Parts: sequence; C-alpha cells; structure tokens
Amino acid sequence: MKNIYLETYGCQMNEYDSELVRSILTASQYQFVPSIDLAQIVLMNTCAVRENAHQKIYHRLDELKGMKKRGEIEVVGVLGCMAQSLRKTLAERSPTVDVVAGPDSYKKLPNLLTAVYENNNHGFDFALSEFETYADITPKRIAGINAWVAIMRGCDNFCTFCVVPYTRGRERSRSVESVLNEAYRIESEGFKQVTILGQNVNSYHSGDDDFADLMHTLATKSNIPRIRFTSPHPKDFPRKLLHVIAENPSLCKQIHLPLQAGNNTVLKRMNRTYTKEEFYDLVDEIRMIIPGVALTTDIIVGFSGESDADFEDTFDVMEKVRFDSAFIFKYSERKNTIASRKFADDVPEAAKTERIVRLNDLQRQISKEINQTEIGKKVEVLIEHRSKKDANEWLGRTDQNKGVVFAATGKNPGDFVTVEITSATTNTLIGRAVNVVPKSSNILSLSR
Ligand code: SAH
Ligand code: SF4
Ligand code: F3S
Repeated sequence: MKNIYLETYGCQMNEYDSELVRSILTASQYQFVPSIDLAQIVLMNTCAVRENAHQKIYHRLDELKGMKKRGEIEVVGVLGCMAQSLRKTLAERSPTVDVVAGPDSYKKLPNLLTAVYENNNHGFDFALSEFETYADITPKRIAGINAWVAIMRGCDNFCTFCVVPYTRGRERSRSVESVLNEAYRIESEGFKQVTILGQNVNSYHSGDDDFADLMHTLATKSNIPRIRFTSPHPKDFPRKLLHVIAENPSLCKQIHLPLQAGNNTVLKRMNRTYTKEEFYDLVDEIRMIIPGVALTTDIIVGFSGESDADFEDTFDVMEKVRFDSAFIFKYSERKNTIASRKFADDVPEAAKTERIVRLNDLQRQISKEINQTEIGKKVEVLIEHRSKKDANEWLGRTDQNKGVVFAATGKNPGDFVTVEITSATTNTLIGRAVNVVPKSSNILSLSR
C-alpha cells in the first residue's frame, strides 16, 4: 500500500474535488497521510485562475524535483485546473511529473498510478466530459463544521478574462435527488453547515427544478442548520431565490455577488452581460427582500483597456453599494481566453497596483464602518475553532458569515452561542457570550 500526500490550491471547488480524489484512491488501495514525510506519492490539486497560482505550483515542483532526486518521494502528480490548461507543458516536465489529470479525469487516477508503478509509464489524462458530475462518489470529508457540495461542474459563461470554462469544460448539473441524499449524509455525519458550490449556481437545472427549487428542497427537507452557496452570477440571479432565502432560516443571509467592474464598457468587454444599472437594481431588490443581508464581491482591476475614468466608475460603485467585504484582484492574462486573443493586457503594472491599493483602502474603511454597526447587537455564532491569536478564545461565524472572536467556557466547535458584539475591526467582530436563559427554565426559576 502506498501513501499519498495531497495538497490543494485554488477555490472551494478544488477543496471538494480533493475529497473526491481521496475517496476514489482510498477505495483503490491507497492511503492518505497528513505529512509529506510519510508519503511516497505527492499529488497537487492546482489552480490556473491567475498567473501567481501557476508560479506557486512551478516553485513547488522545483522542490518536489529535489525530493524525488534524493529518493524521498517516488511519484508526483498534478491534478486540477492547471493540469488541464497546461497539460502539454506539464507532461514535458517529466521525469519530475508522472501523473497529470484534469478535473474530469479523477476516476481514472487508480489506472494512471498503476501505469506509473506497474508499467513504468506516465499517467496522463485530460479528457473533459460533458456528463461527469461525480454524483456517484461519496467525498471523503475531513470532520469539521462545513461540508462542501458541488451541485454542478464546468462553466458556459465565457467571461473573456477567465480560464475556468477551458479548465473545467461544459456546464452540467447533478440531480436534486443526489444533492439531497448527500445533504442527508452530511447531516447524519454531524456537519453544521453545507456550502453549495458551482461556477454559476444560477444555471443549475435538473428536470423542471431550477436553483431556487433546489435550495427550497434542501432547506425544507434537510435539518442542516446553515446552508450557504457560491457563486451566483448577477446576470441571471433568480428573484424567486431571494424569497426562498428570506423565508427559510437555515438559508444564510449572505450572498457573494461578483461585480468584477463598475464600468459598462469594461463589463461588456468582459462579457459579463449586465450593466452597472442592472447590478444596482439587483442589489436594491436583494436588500429589500432580505433585510440585513451581507453582500460580498469579486473585483478585477486593470482589465484590458480599463482607463483611469473606467476605474473611477468601479470605485464609485463600490462606494455606493458598500459591500461587506470584497476580493480584489489585478487582471492576469490567461492563455487561450477570449481576452488574450482579442485584447491587449495594456494597463501598466503600476496602474494596476495603484488601483488595487485604492480599492482595498476604500473597502477596508467600508467593512470597518459596517462591522461597527454590529456593536451592541446579539448575534448567533456557530463556533468553528480556537482563535489563532488567543487559544482561550473561539472563532465562530454569524449567519452573515462574519468572523466573531469571543470567550466561552464549556463550549465546543459546532455549538451555537449567542454573542453580544462589543467591538469591531475591518475583518472581525469581537464579543462576549451571553447566557440566554431558555423561556421554560426562566419560569422554573421564578417558581422556585
Ligand atoms: N465562477 C465564479 C468565479 C471563479 S474565479 C464567479 O463567476 O463568481 C474567482 C474570481 O477570480 C473571479 O470572480 C474573478 O474576480 C477572478 N478572476 C478570474 N479570472 C481572472 C483573471 N484572469 N485575472 C484576475 N482575476 C481573475
Ligand atoms: Fe469564469 Fe465567468 Fe464562469 Fe465565473 S462565470 S467561472 S468568472 S467564466
Ligand atoms: Fe477554482 Fe482555480 Fe480552477 S479558482 S475553478 S481551481 S482555476
């Protein structure tokens, strides 16, 4: 039996895929180990979304090459999005790289490893599938609070900057039944939260059911206390879903709504197919139907042709919408994308840096102001783990997905605690646990 050390880079979809990989290879006489020192095989589940993701893997491959030469490991495999997009280049990296497998090739991993070990060959497979959803594989999850569930794979949106449609292929959905069965299993395993994943969850469909129907089914038929999802595309956000969220307490009042840019010409060149005005309307509607909802976003600065004035529009939208938080990236040209073929990566690095710094400053200010409005409120917090800064304190999250640090004795990860917020920073709420005495015991103590 060989030991595998699996490293995961990139987004939550890759976290989920790594659980599929663990499941597939565990069923095939391999064992996963928590330290590279115990492993003969190193697998990396990689990301391709920006150049720095590639650089990280190349750097790691250099380290693994040394380990392999010294006989510390036997086999190196590259999986995931970078494997799919750079298949030839990686294949040329042999003898360092023995296995290359794209996101639809994971069921073949046992055969690919056999090719290496028994036939002294390489194991390369990057066939994308129109049908593979892995619905028949039970992910091997690491016990914790949150369980990921991919309800769909691939993406057909072809935002011009994005490599994902090329690394993950065409869009396909799992059946409602298979998602619900997975939710039941997750519930029985004691997870307190499920995060539903898809590149654009709004495109989900199964028979007559759309994404709002699926969320309604999950909220009403499972007893999982918290259900989140990511990401919905603003172009086709189903209004029905807003009502489903508002009416079902287990659906968290938090929506990640990637804006990307606040200028209509840039949005058009990105092929996002909505305008700034439509985005504003959507935000208004979300906030009207789900009061108190937290909104987060993704932004790209310095996309091809983005002028100073175009950037000011993004700044302006960020100022007006006031997201709870934002992930802001510098545009990184990706090979084969529509933007790389049609437009030049013509915004100077210095301008990209200046823009990202300005937006991050603005967002930090807004996040802090919004968080400070939480002071004095009592919020329900799901404990995740010990605070990294102070082992006597817990880190948990509110329904809105805000991190809360507080002290409480006799509690454990997975417990819900009512916390009164006493102060707030840009990224964190700080509070104290409140003993909320249940009504029945109140009456009891009075009668005593
Ligand atoms: N499907 C998801 C996004 C997946 S990629 C969605 O549409 O929300 C996550 C984020 O990475 C994107 O929202 C975008 O902001 C950023 N991103 C994608 N391609 C990029 C590129 N070429 N350069 C910089 N950022 C990029
Ligand atoms: Fe990329 Fe756009 Fe698809 Fe998201 S919706 S994965 S940004 S192409
Ligand atoms: Fe995710 Fe990176 Fe692929 S963001 S979908 S792992 S390119």
